[in-house]
Amino acid sequence: MTNIINGHQIAKQLNQETKTRVDKLKEEGIILGIVVILVGDDPASVIYTRNKQKNAEKLGVKSILRKFPKDVSQAEVLQAIHHYNDDPTIHAILIQLPLPKHLNQTELIEAIAPEKDVDGFCPQNAGLLSYNSAEALVSATPKGVLELLKLTGVNLSGKHAVIIGRSNIVGKPLAMLLLNQNCTVTVAHSKTKDLPLLLNTADIVVAACGQPKMIRGSWLKEGAVVIDVGINRDENGKLCGDVDFESALQQASFITPVPGGVGPLTIAMLS
Ligand code: GUN
Repeated sequence: MTNIINGHQIAKQLNQETKTRVDKLKEEGIILGIVVILVGDDPASVIYTRNKQKNAEKLGVKSILRKFPKDVSQAEVLQAIHHYNDDPTIHAILIQLPLPKHLNQTELIEAIAPEKDVDGFCPQNAGLLSYNSAEALVSATPKGVLELLKLTGVNLSGKHAVIIGRSNIVGKPLAMLLLNQNCTVTVAHSKTKDLPLLLNTADIVVAACGQPKMIRGSWLKEGAVVIDVGINRDENGKLCGDVDFESALQQASFITPVPGGVGPLTIAMLS
């Protein structure tokens, strides 16, 4: 029987652990602060940032939402980042992506002080992650995926993990995290030839390609662990992942649903 992983339940446990850490710091007189920078009014970004804020507040973390209009200049956002870099009451800075096209995303991310780069996007954190350093700050979604994989109880060492998607947010950092767990990692992408053949050899499949229901159950090896990072709308406007859940259920040993799988973990792991 396939195990359907309950992301909400796992997120709740993680939040409790985080709350204990936050409370302990409070007793020592330290109140953690996060600032989320939101440019424009992309509906998905507005929801993400609202959820991040709500969760931070629930945990007793000071949370500031710094909103800018979509035509804000590069200099203005840079100035805000420098301000929060210098603000000792702010411990984490997150720039919600995607940004409007006129802004230079790389320059903005690189302007964040590495120790406040909670997304782990800046070159220093990406480099530390590739060195398997405990000091690396790592993007919340890949961290959440690893947490889910660990909680399945499946021994990751020596397993073939196929990640579909090579983004800086998910695919690339996750490849490093899984390598550090001694998986044999393949990163597939839009130019990969014969994905079904590749997936047939995968013990672990992580779908992060943003294509609704693209991964079919018939492509999977029997007993594969399937983690679906996608959040899409299907032809009827219903939320769905990158994996065709119904057919994958026939093959997988563990699978995450969408919604209710990776999503809740992403917010919890940020803390
Ligand atoms: N937009 C979608 N996911 C993310 C994320 O993990 N971090 C940031 N900063 N923006 C996002």
